[in-house]
Amino acid sequence: MSKKPPARRSHAWFEGTSRDNFVHRSWMRNQGRPSHLFDGRPVIGICNTWSELTPCNGHFRRIAEHVKRGVYECGGFPLEFPVMSLGETLMRPTTMLFRNLVSMDVEESIRANPLDAVVLLVGCDKTTPALLMGAASCNLPTIVVSGGPMLNGYFKGRKIGSGTSVWEFSEDVRAGCMSVAEFMDAESSMSRSVGHCMTMGTASTMASMVESLGMGLPGNAAIPAADARRYALAHEAGRRVVGMVEENLTIAEVLTREAFENAVMVNGAIGGSTNAVVHLLALAGRVGVDLSLDDWDRLGREMPCLVNLMPSGEHLMEDLYYAGGLPAVMQEIAASLHLDAKTVNGQTLGQNIADAECYNRDVIRPLDEPLAEHGGIAVLRGNLAPQGAVVKPSAATPALMQHRGRAVVFEDIDDFKARIDDPDLDVEPEDVLVLKNCGPKGYPGFPEVGNMPLPSKLLERGVRDMVRISDARMSGTAYGTVVLHTAPEAAVGGPLALVQNGDTIELDVAARRLHLDVTDQALEARRAAWTPPEHDFTRGYYRLFLDHVLQADTGVDFDFLRGSSGAPVPRESH
Ligand code: FES
Repeated sequence: MSKKPPARRSHAWFEGTSRDNFVHRSWMRNQGRPSHLFDGRPVIGICNTWSELTPCNGHFRRIAEHVKRGVYECGGFPLEFPVMSLGETLMRPTTMLFRNLVSMDVEESIRANPLDAVVLLVGCDKTTPALLMGAASCNLPTIVVSGGPMLNGYFKGRKIGSGTSVWEFSEDVRAGCMSVAEFMDAESSMSRSVGHCMTMGTASTMASMVESLGMGLPGNAAIPAADARRYALAHEAGRRVVGMVEENLTIAEVLTREAFENAVMVNGAIGGSTNAVVHLLALAGRVGVDLSLDDWDRLGREMPCLVNLMPSGEHLMEDLYYAGGLPAVMQEIAASLHLDAKTVNGQTLGQNIADAECYNRDVIRPLDEPLAEHGGIAVLRGNLAPQGAVVKPSAATPALMQHRGRAVVFEDIDDFKARIDDPDLDVEPEDVLVLKNCGPKGYPGFPEVGNMPLPSKLLERGVRDMVRISDARMSGTAYGTVVLHTAPEAAVGGPLALVQNGDTIELDVAARRLHLDVTDQALEARRAAWTPPEHDFTRGYYRLFLDHVLQADTGVDFDFLRGSSGAPVPRESH
């Protein structure tokens, strides 16, 4: 039996003959809106992260227009509104500092306005989790439209991928095997169309999370931004969201535990970004789903990486779309998924992928011939990470997955930058690089600096990977044997703060172990002498962030933002 839809929120603004109703309608009419738009039809917010400062979302005005077509077609009243945008390439010190701020912007913008449902336009890395988190805390009918990846990059006859090839080329320049002129030449070859990073970096991973969570229409993850079908999908989303209002299909009904479990497994199959761990933990916290780091390990442990995309493999998102897209990937692992999970189009996940086919077995590998046997995120624990740390096995060097080495310690990112290329730095290929004070509170903001560049003098000797450990994140486009999100972080006195040069560290990914080979007694003595790093962030948003941010193992949300307040209509003030 279908649910009775609740009274529409928008009626509280637009229905009636009071002075307030006059105010609400009259000013809206100054854009040329006719009377029939105020006849009680569903009002659909289009939450837009367009900004010229966020190049990955630079085409979103056009996407919004296509969403509007669909909303109008089905008898809705679309109203587009901006929220703060987060452009990964320009913002300092790091966009992650502002993810929660944007989620607050989204949540309060939705609740304060006459909206019955929302379409979220997302693309660049943090825009996806920020908008999902904010909308989840309002719990209206919600559908996500991702902006889509850029077309494949090509340079000198070979594919190059956003981020991944930048890291590779810059190491080649430092190692002396690529000229600076060639490096500069690659810029325009890499980013040659609208859209977000086209590697399986964080943006593409999060677009895949959207689709596997059931929050986007089938095809959302991979259709290139420049492909006409991206705009057709936006149009369809506009049509569908009006139906979601009629059915009162809210975001909390889609974001169930089963949906999160599906997304975690899909993350393994696509070789997705470690950033998805943090974002999904935070999102689950908004809808009251008890997702934990251990779930990531449990569900991802046996999941092979099937998708042959950079940074784990060699292809790019355009290739994934032509190979069948995410539905074909999910079809390959269908036996593991919760196929009865509900999705925004009203169908189950199983129904959405029932007819999916793979058209290129090099891009989407069969389950019995995976790209890497272990695609999921491995969660490490031990005396160096009592609350956990993560590593992405598919992007790591197999020979380094079990390793003992001498710690070469950097106290913070400035110390790292000052010394990493010092010819006198005492470092050997089998050492373990340790970077402190780059966690949520330490930097602050939890930046993507965990994939530390290797020392020049080792690059010149041909070394291309080393074990690296930090409390930072890394770009989803990066690769290497990089242990991240170590919790608690150094800045709050986590054991990482106590590591000293020359200590022995043991990494054993198969045993999920990260161990500092120092006695408890010695660690206690070091702890007694430890003092927290100083900072001068005494006011404004930085202060709010430092006072309320949680650690990596719970998603780095603010303590006061976990959960939902729904979307009751606030009181009038005119
Ligand atoms: Fe925007 Fe990579 S920089 S998605």
